[in-house]
Amino acid sequence: MKRVSLTQYLVEEQRLHDNIPASLRLLIEVVARACKTISHSVGKGALGDILGSAGSENVQGEVQKKLDVISNEILLEANEWGGHLAAMASEEMESIHPIPNRYPMGEYMLLFDPLDGSSNIDVNVSIGTIFSVLKAPEGMSAPTEADFMQPGTQQVAAGYAVYGPQTMLVLTTGNGVNCFTLDREMGSWVLTQKGMQIPVETKEFAINMSNQRHWHPPVQRYVNEMLAGKTGPLGKDYNMRWIASMVADVHRILNRGGIFMYPADMRDPSQPGKLRLMYEANPMAMIVEQAGGAATDGRQRILDIPPTKLHQRVPVFLGSKSEVDRVTGYHAE
Ligand code: AHG
Ligand code: MN
Ligand code: MN
Repeated sequence: MKRVSLTQYLVEEQRLHDNIPASLRLLIEVVARACKTISHSVGKGALGDILGSAGSENVQGEVQKKLDVISNEILLEANEWGGHLAAMASEEMESIHPIPNRYPMGEYMLLFDPLDGSSNIDVNVSIGTIFSVLKAPEGMSAPTEADFMQPGTQQVAAGYAVYGPQTMLVLTTGNGVNCFTLDREMGSWVLTQKGMQIPVETKEFAINMSNQRHWHPPVQRYVNEMLAGKTGPLGKDYNMRWIASMVADVHRILNRGGIFMYPADMRDPSQPGKLRLMYEANPMAMIVEQAGGAATDGRQRILDIPPTKLHQRVPVFLGSKSEVDRVTGYHAE
């Protein structure tokens, strides 16, 4: 079988569709290289002194793991010097990170969740990195947080790396979704799945059931109906999976269908859900839509939400279209 590398894929995609100019190709290759470095650290575990807590908190008040901090540093360092970016933003940094002025400023802005699924690091369960690429507004000279406040529809690329039994990179530039597997011996990303499509129908759901008592009525109804199985209103038996790494749950759904939910609940109205719009929900929503699925906050398409804050949270329902449409419909009733 002829192997297509990430570089070859990006070059040929540009030739065919004119949607990956050289600076965007550089960006994607640099992010992919950083993910390779993170994957290497992940694989070392205790031998690389990467497990455990960093002894600090991020802006959302979450305890940072060593690997959260290391992965953030790897992505920052890799992306500073290339001239492809104007600024970066991350789950692990309170404010945006403009490119230092010793380097040329580029036309893109990169957002990332450097390490998704932090609670799984120390127990050797799949984790990942999520990223989203926006264009800097025309004529921008000194980037500010306001320049990032663009809806997800404006993303020019989105992707994630999953560090599991295999390390994979799933990428979209707005023309379908492709998956690359890391060849660890060669150190290269090889195209292994083209044009990924989420099955429309599903029998699998993912939600943290321990929060059930806090859910709003539409989510209660939907999950109860799934739990009722074949003799219930949905007429089929469902299965449940919850990995607690969004990357790993989304990766399963991309491959065999399903719905992923992290709803808002009744605990704290100022915290609409757990996941963050700009670097978790938006990139995943773009990937899922590009693979024929759907992604909403229960009421509207995630990609249409106008952001107001870098670290804003959003309820998330994504995956197979028929199921996402159903639970979104329940919210409207
Ligand atoms: P992060 O590790 O980047 O903070 O994200 C964790 C997120 C997401 O990956 C996962 O789906 C969810 O949190 C798990 O939440 P629970 O702890 O409620 O299971
Ligand atoms: Mn995350
Ligand atoms: Mn994270």
